Amino acid sequence: MAEVLRARRGAVPAEATAGFSSFRADEAEALWGALRRHTLELSCGDGDRDARRVAVGEVLDVWLDDVLAVEEPGDEESSCTVRLPSDDTDLVLALLTRGFAPVTIDAVRRLSSSGRSDAAHGLAATHGLGDGALLRAASASDAPALAAFDALLLSHEADFGAVFRRQGAEQLLLASMTDRLRSWPDWTWLIEQDGAALGYVHAFPDSETPGSPPRAYLDAMYLAPDARGAGLGRRVVDAVHGILTGEGAGSVRLDYSVANPQSGPFWSRLGYRPVTTTWQRRPSVR
Ligand SMILES: CC(C)(COP(=O)(O)OP(=O)(O)OC[C@H]1O[C@@H](n2cnc3c(N)ncnc32)[C@H](O)[C@@H]1OP(=O)(O)O)[C@@H](O)C(=O)NCCC(=O)NCCS
Repeated sequence: MAEVLRARRGAVPAEATAGFSSFRADEAEALWGALRRHTLELSCGDGDRDARRVAVGEVLDVWLDDVLAVEEPGDEESSCTVRLPSDDTDLVLALLTRGFAPVTIDAVRRLSSSGRSDAAHGLAATHGLGDGALLRAASASDAPALAAFDALLLSHEADFGAVFRRQGAEQLLLASMTDRLRSWPDWTWLIEQDGAALGYVHAFPDSETPGSPPRAYLDAMYLAPDARGAGLGRRVVDAVHGILTGEGAGSVRLDYSVANPQSGPFWSRLGYRPVTTTWQRRPSVR
C-alpha cells in the first residue's frame, strides 16, 4: 500500500504518503517494531496553528479509516507510525487526540562547537576513562558477550514501546553483532572496570547522511544496573565524542525512547537536542 493523502484547511495544505510493511516473527527486523507496520510520511504547509492542526487531522482520519479496513481491533502486532519535527508543536494535539503517543526521539549534538571541548583523539585499542575504567575495542571473539548486553538492552527498551522481546532474540542479536564487528571492526567498545565488562557502546561515522563536516551515529549504549548513576556513562560518552571528533565528525545523532526515564535526561544533560519525534498508535485499531 503506498497512497498519497491530501487535505486543505483555508490556505494550509497537508499531504502524506502512506506505506505498509510486514515481517515474520523470526526475522531480525521483527525486533525493531510490530509485525505489521503502517507508516505515514506527513508534511504540512505553514499557516495558522489551528488550520494546520485541522488539515493534518483530516489526513490522519482518512489514513486511519484505510487502516481500520484491513486490521483487527486490539492486534498489538499492528502499528501506525508518523515522524514529525519535534519543534512542530502545532501538530501535537492532532496526534494525541487520535491515540498516538510519542515513542522515540531522534536527537543531535554538535561536536567541538559553541565553546564545547571534545578533546579529539583517534581510534585506539583502548581509551582510558579514569578510576580503572576503560573502553576496549571489541574483536570478533567478544560477539557473544556483546550480544548478551544487547539482549539486556532490548529487553529494557521493550517496556517503552519501540522494540520487541521475541523468542530467539539472542541468536538474532548475535548474528547482527557478528555482522557489525565485520562491517565496523573498530567502532564497538566494551566498557570495562578493573578488567570486568560492565556494558558496551557502539558508534560510527554516518557516511549515508550528506553534510560537511560529516555526521556520526551513536547506535547503542548499555551499562549494567550496578554501574549506573555514578558518572561512568558521562565519561564513556565524553570519550566517544573525542573519538568521533578525532575522526572528523561535526555532530552526532542518536535516538532514544521517550518513556525510558534513563534516556532523555541523560542525553539532554550531555548536550543532545530533539530533532524528530516518532509517534505511534499500537494497536493500530482499538
Ligand atoms: C543511560 C545510561 C547509559 C546512563 O549512564 P549513567 O552512568 O547512569 O549516567 P551518569 O551517572 O554518567 O550521568 C550523566 C549525567 O546525566 C545525569 N542523569 C543521568 N540519568 C539521569 C536521570 N534519570 N535524570 C536526571 N539526570 C540524569 C546525571 O546526573 C549526570 O549529570 P552530571 O554529569 O551533570 O552530574 C545508563 O543508565 C544505562 O545504560 N541505562 C540502561 C540502558 C539504557 O537505557 N540505555 C540508553 C538507551 S538510549
